[in-house]
Amino acid sequence: MSKQQKQHHSQTKRPGDFYYSEAKQQGFVARSVFKLQEIDQKYRLFSHSGEKPFFVIDLGCAPGSWLQYVLPKLKQGDKVLGIDLNKISLKDDKLVFMQRDITEVTSQEFLDAVGSTEGYDVVLSDMAPKTCGIKLVDQERSLDLCREAARVARDTLRKNGTLVIKIFQGPDVKKFTDELKHDFKEVKMFKPDSSRAQSFEIYIVASGKN
Ligand SMILES: C[S@@+](CC[C@H](N)C(=O)[O-])C[C@H]1O[C@@H](n2cnc3c(N)ncnc32)[C@H](O)[C@@H]1O
Repeated sequence: MSKQQKQHHSQTKRPGDFYYSEAKQQGFVARSVFKLQEIDQKYRLFSHSGEKPFFVIDLGCAPGSWLQYVLPKLKQGDKVLGIDLNKISLKDDKLVFMQRDITEVTSQEFLDAVGSTEGYDVVLSDMAPKTCGIKLVDQERSLDLCREAARVARDTLRKNGTLVIKIFQGPDVKKFTDELKHDFKEVKMFKPDSSRAQSFEIYIVASGKN
């Protein structure tokens, strides 16, 4: 199916859209997996030599499709920490899960969860606020979560680490990305094809943590 056909299918058939059916068929718990796959194909988030353990945080990980994508990329000794307000049913030796509100988790708790001294390699945030339908309010709520994700990244990423954040497009996004430029060498915006065209979400990929 072409890119246009997939988009058309995604917009016209919900929840039975192309990515939804594809996720189900491939055993993923959510269609969001394809957004991470596209980001990873472009930015190579998880390539590592295996010399040192590789650590990933997945903020807002439930129901768990991003974890399902990350886990097979990890080697012996690597870990992914998933955090969400909601429970997940996924279990794996390389997965540490916390059912918590991330705004209440300290930086030390993040580091202790996987026993890391040098910090994380990648922080992912697909967190979404409870939306009320008022665009400005939803954008502000999304931005608050993004600020929290940036706080976690600032405090727990190791040098040259990468941050991926979902944000709802709005008037303060530029200011937020400018702030990220103080801490990261490169800050890019990316709209995956698998993200519904009518959704105002977009992903920020900040790499090369100072
Ligand atoms: C779009 S879903 C994430 C989907 C996930 N990436 C996947 O692939 O399955 C967004 C998640 O963010 C979580 N979330 C929102 N605010 C949060 C907070 N303050 N602390 C922890 N999780 C939060 C929600 O509970 C929800 O499960």
